[in-house]
Amino acid sequence: MPLIDPFGRTIEYVRLSVTDRCDLRCFYCLPKGFKDFEEPAEWLTFHEIERVIKVFAELGVNRIRITGGEPLVRKNLPELAQRLSQLPGITDLSLSTNAVQLKRYARALKQANVTRLNVSLDSLDPERFKTITNGGKLDKVMDGLMAARAAGFSPIKINTVLMQGINEDEAEDLVAFCIEHGFTLRFIETMPMGETGREAAKHYVDLQKIRQRLAEKYELIPGVMPGGGPARYVQVAGTELRIGFITPLSQHFCETCNRVRLAADGTLYLCLGQSDKVELRPLLREGISDEQLKQVISGGIALKPARHEFNEKPRQIVRFMSMTGG
Ligand code: GTP
Ligand code: 5AD
Ligand code: SF4
Repeated sequence: MPLIDPFGRTIEYVRLSVTDRCDLRCFYCLPKGFKDFEEPAEWLTFHEIERVIKVFAELGVNRIRITGGEPLVRKNLPELAQRLSQLPGITDLSLSTNAVQLKRYARALKQANVTRLNVSLDSLDPERFKTITNGGKLDKVMDGLMAARAAGFSPIKINTVLMQGINEDEAEDLVAFCIEHGFTLRFIETMPMGETGREAAKHYVDLQKIRQRLAEKYELIPGVMPGGGPARYVQVAGTELRIGFITPLSQHFCETCNRVRLAADGTLYLCLGQSDKVELRPLLREGISDEQLKQVISGGIALKPARHEFNEKPRQIVRFMSMTGG
C-alpha cells in the first residue's frame, strides 16, 4: 500500500534529520551564538529511528537521506547508516553534510553502505568561507571532500547557496573546481526559513539569470543525474560536469514532491515550507504498534500541503533550516 497524498503524489523519499546541532554557523541558517537546541533526551534513539524507517519502507519509501543540522555531529552515525541500509526496501541511502568532519568518517560511511554524498560549500575563498560560516575552516572541508573521493563515493554533489553580494561571483570558479575534481555542482536559491533565512533573502539570486550567464561561457546541454531531489540538470559539453539548479522560488517543483521530513525529535514535517506536522515521539514512547504507526503516518500524508508559499508568505516559517536539514 504506497503512500499517496491528496494531490496524487507518491511519497517514496524520507529526509531524516539526526540532530539539529551543527559545527558551523552559516549566516543564512543559524544565528551566531545560537544554543537553543533540542536536548538529546528529546532525540529519537537509533532504535526508534530504525523502527520508524522500517515502517516507512513497508509503506513504499525506498530513499533515505540523512541530514542535520550537521549529521556527523551525532555520535556513531555510521552505525545508524549501516542499520538503515539493511532495512528491506531501502535502495538509496544518502547523506548531506558540511564535510567539516568528513575526513574522519568517509571510509566508515562508505562501509556502512551510504551510496551518495552531498556536500555544502558556498565559497572557495578561505576568508569568505570563514565569514559565511561564522568561523569555519575551508581546508577541513577540502580534506573531507578529497577523503570522500578517495573512499570511492560517486557522485559527490557540491551544494552552493548562491547569494548576491556574497558569492554570486564565484559560480564560474566553482564550475572549474568541480570539473577539475569530478564533482557535480548544484546551485540553490535561498529560502526564507526562520529569521536567518529571511535575512539571507535580501541576497536572493534568481538562478535563471545565473544559468544564462553560464550559457554565455559554456555550452550547456540537457542532462540527468541519479537522485531523488528537485534539481534540474544541464551538462557542460566536452566535460563530465553536470550542474543542477534548485529553484524553489523562481520555479518551484512542488507538483513533483515525493518527500517528507523526520526531525531529530521525531516530528514528521509534511512540507519544508509549511508547519503541518505529526509528533511521532510520544506515540513511540507510549508503545504504539507497527500497524497503528502505519495509520498515523498515512494520516499525516493526508495533511501534506500542495506547496510552499515562500513567495506569497515569506514570514510564515519560524523554524530554522537546521531543524529539518533542508
Ligand atoms: P539528491 O537526492 O541528490 O537529488 O538530493 P537533494 O537535492 O534532495 O538533497 P540535498 O540535501 O542536497 O538538498 C539540496 C537543497 O535542496 C537544499 O537546499 C534543500 O533544502 C533543497 N530541497 C530538498 N528537498 C526540497 C523540497 O522538498 N522543497 C524545497 N523547497 N527544497 C528542497
Ligand atoms: N535556503 C536555501 N538552502 C539552504 N540551506 C540551508 N539553509 C538554506 C536556506 N535558507 C542548504 C545548505 C545545504 C542544504 C542541505 O540546505 O546550504 O547545502
Ligand atoms: Fe514538497 Fe513542500 Fe518542498 Fe514543495 S516546498 S517540494 S511541497 S516539501
